Amino acid sequence: MTDTRLAVPRHVGLIMDGNGRWAKLRHMPRSFGHNAGMNRMVGLAEHARELGIKYLTVYALSTENLASRPQEELDGLFNLFRKYFKSNVKKLLSRGAAVKIIGDLSALPKDIENLLKNGEAASPENAEFTIVFAINYGARSEILRACNIAVENGKKLDFNGFENLLYTGGIPEPDLIIRTGGEIRLSNFLAYQSAYAELYFTDLLFPDFTDAEFDKALREFSARERRFGNI
Ligand code: FPP
Repeated sequence: MTDTRLAVPRHVGLIMDGNGRWAKLRHMPRSFGHNAGMNRMVGLAEHARELGIKYLTVYALSTENLASRPQEELDGLFNLFRKYFKSNVKKLLSRGAAVKIIGDLSALPKDIENLLKNGEAASPENAEFTIVFAINYGARSEILRACNIAVENGKKLDFNGFENLLYTGGIPEPDLIIRTGGEIRLSNFLAYQSAYAELYFTDLLFPDFTDAEFDKALREFSARERRFGNI
């Protein structure tokens, strides 16, 4: 049920941590936890859309995850991406929502790169709800990439010009970033864009992060005073 007292952020970032531990507690492989995480992500995206949130950015795979996780775990994640982009994305698009991908897709298996790009290409402009997938995403790489493009272009930039060179060009910066799983850090997620984001951390493991818990984060966000450096 929607809580009408909530201040609805325009853009929420979500660090979906704790799938592996959730599976371990159940004596199951990590892939079981990622599958539960994907199902929770689907539920939260629907909830966010119903609340009127315009952008939900989910950290699905970091550059560090891709470089260091065992191949078996990565293959499991790739299969989830295949499953999701073949079924759920179609459903989202048919309801007028959009998907966008941020990150370096060139290091992913070719079929996944194509699925992601096709989902993005089939998305409407100016959708009421956009789900942004950060896949093989790292903020440092994103910033470095933007700097290199700027150098190649040989022109000094203002903030607006620089922001347009980031993967997130055209997307408003996040108002709220939520991290599940108990760690209190951003782990290379939207480092530039989160300069004024409110941060919310919970010990809950991602598969246990219910819609009601998401609403709790929004209530805390509503109670915070955002001054953007002003008095
Ligand atoms: C971190 O938790 C989570 C990830 C590396 C993957 C998150 C991915 C999903 C929830 C699936 C997304 C699906 C699609 C289709 C985009 P962890 O496993 O490192 O948790 P741990 O800290 O308990 O080990």
